[in-house]
Amino acid sequence: MFLPQLMARAGQGEKLVVLTCYDASFARLLVDNGVDALLVGDSLGMTVQGHATTLPVSLDDMVYHTSAVARGASGRAFVIADLPFGAYQTGPARAFESSARLMAAGANMVKLEGGSIMAETVAFLSDRGIPVCAHLGLLPQSVNATGYRAQARDEVAAARLLADAEALQAAGAGMLVLESIPSTLAGQVTARLAIPTIGIGAGRDCAGQVLVLNDLLGLTEKPPRFSKNFMAGADSLAGAVRAYAEAVRGGAFPGPEHSFRCD
Ligand code: KIV
Repeated sequence: MFLPQLMARAGQGEKLVVLTCYDASFARLLVDNGVDALLVGDSLGMTVQGHATTLPVSLDDMVYHTSAVARGASGRAFVIADLPFGAYQTGPARAFESSARLMAAGANMVKLEGGSIMAETVAFLSDRGIPVCAHLGLLPQSVNATGYRAQARDEVAAARLLADAEALQAAGAGMLVLESIPSTLAGQVTARLAIPTIGIGAGRDCAGQVLVLNDLLGLTEKPPRFSKNFMAGADSLAGAVRAYAEAVRGGAFPGPEHSFRCD
């Protein structure tokens, strides 16, 4: 699936249903049960590799998992691949070389973390035919600086995030992940932008939602507050994924208990 097809779905006013995915079997299962886009997240550093953070994940790791997911999805879902820590921060040319490997492995879009400082890189990639998803709010690759805490909870930080979102859209970003920010701010960003926002811990007013697959399946020892175990009450993996897709499309997930407020 290519970006225009995904945008057409978003344009019909339906919430986009996104999940992380790391292998071919799950790619098939997720596509068969209502997921629009698969994010090969560098969260695989924790979920698959057992690290404490996403920082040790290499570009080779991301290429390996992206090609497995793309084969499983076989063109039936949109595949987004994370650029891992160290593979893009030094400048547009390096980001292009890393992104080219992910696109050749089967990604339809790459994702990178950071605000207006990444605008030049976003423009460089999108001008060369590589769709880019930006990522604001809690940035797991910056965990050493911020910890795992909700972000942009005061007025100054919220204004900065809004400005970053506009700068990234102007640079050519095709989508924006908003992680762990107040729901009201995510709603404002979503209303301000033409590109879809995909929330994770960002309330129900985003254009779509993403969760880490392992959190949804109840496999995470200490899941984040914004996630939900959809295996509870489901009789199969497929049932849990369908319940998530229906809850997102119907507006039942996320609820206030999965969301953050301003300070
Ligand atoms: O790597 C990942 O799983 C992500 C999500 C948290 C959005 O980037």
